[in-house]
Amino acid sequence: MFERLPGFRDFYPEECAVRNHLFRQWRAGARRFGFSEYDAPALESLDLYRAKSGDEIVAQLFGFTDRGGRDVALRPEMTPSLARLVGARASALPKPVKWFSIGEQFRYERQQRGRLRSFYQFNADILGEPGPEAEIELIALLVQTLTGFGLTAEDFVVRLSDRDLWVDYLRGVGLDDTAIGAVLTVVDKIGREPEAKTLERLQPHLGEAAGDFFGKISILRDIDSFEALERFFRAHVTDDAVRTDLESRLAQWKTLLSGLEAMGLGDFFRIDLSIVRGLAYYTGFVFEVFDREGRFRALAGGGRYDHLVEKLGGPSLPATGFAVGDVTLWEFLQDRKLLPRYVEAPELFVVIGGEEARTAAFRDIRALREAGYRVEYPLKPPAFGKQFKQAAASGARAALIYGSDEVAKGTVKVRNLNDRSEEEVPAEQLLRYLAESA
Ligand code: HAM
Repeated sequence: MFERLPGFRDFYPEECAVRNHLFRQWRAGARRFGFSEYDAPALESLDLYRAKSGDEIVAQLFGFTDRGGRDVALRPEMTPSLARLVGARASALPKPVKWFSIGEQFRYERQQRGRLRSFYQFNADILGEPGPEAEIELIALLVQTLTGFGLTAEDFVVRLSDRDLWVDYLRGVGLDDTAIGAVLTVVDKIGREPEAKTLERLQPHLGEAAGDFFGKISILRDIDSFEALERFFRAHVTDDAVRTDLESRLAQWKTLLSGLEAMGLGDFFRIDLSIVRGLAYYTGFVFEVFDREGRFRALAGGGRYDHLVEKLGGPSLPATGFAVGDVTLWEFLQDRKLLPRYVEAPELFVVIGGEEARTAAFRDIRALREAGYRVEYPLKPPAFGKQFKQAAASGARAALIYGSDEVAKGTVKVRNLNDRSEEEVPAEQLLRYLAESA
């Protein structure tokens, strides 16, 4: 047999049922928060990702040249497409734009647990709102989506951070924008790489000071409360111009934290400045969701990307959002025994005894299906006895028996497959009988 490509999944009916469960919950959550669904092509121009999402994701693109000579790529994420869509109609769209999508993404990653080359994401974004009110709404949606699956504050946590504060700090150290971008990419990998490697990667940007700097960012990465955050930045940001920025930034933090508390989300998040996010377009508040025990990879990630729409040729439009992936969520729900078991079974199984019975049975099968019942019958009916066995094994609640006797009398025998009781019902009363006995 042919094998599927590495990093891709087949969805047999059982897996499709689980996938549908995830999609249903995601969609229901987004709708409760007043988000509208959108979609975009899975294949986009490669330029959409070049230099906007960052080197890491560009290196993972499934890219090729199409027959028309265009450089194209399967989408690795939804955010650039969303920025393209909203940017193209920005002046006509009422703000804020609250949109969500559910779709397949492709990244040519090294295969590891929780990381595949094709996966699904639930993306939700708000465009047109510069303040932290947008983040409050998004984090509330993210948390309520996850609790909708039965997860609690003991299971997962939203780790909340701020790239603006990092940038303020790194500017204060004397780095320019290019060096800041590069250093943040290194910071994103701390903890996943040996310390020597981190130092080596900081060297080109900081020279001799790399060691010192590493000590400082370890303190920064350890900040886990608003008070500690305030203290650190008030002490380290001394430049007057940056200081004014800092005060308004701290005020935004207060709005965000009090909003999240008021929404009852206090137990679901934690300040954690070690999160800086791997994608290059992020600008302000950023966050990632992890299981509390730290056993799985990130369940979700997101943040603000205020310049992306403009970088893609649209107007200046503030934006923020997140994406939940299906792979880790699936593993995590399975681990917590929170995946429902879906049993694919008909409600009614029709037993057919011969050619004449077939005509009567088919007439009723059509009417029953039209009335909304899930009805199955053997395409080529075997002997009666075998059909009864099939009916019992099918999981249906009742068998409808069309034997030659019944057909001659214009009746149907309804056998309850749970208690094996039987009743003979005039064919024209079958629908009413089933509705009343349900
Ligand atoms: P991201 O952190 O790259 O963000 O991905 C979000 C989530 O998608 C991850 O937390 C993870 O659950 C899942 N994911 C990512 N890569 C893989 C993979 N190779 N295999 C399985 N799951 C994966 C973004 O994609 C941003 N565009 C999110 C965003 C929306 N930011 C603003 N709006």
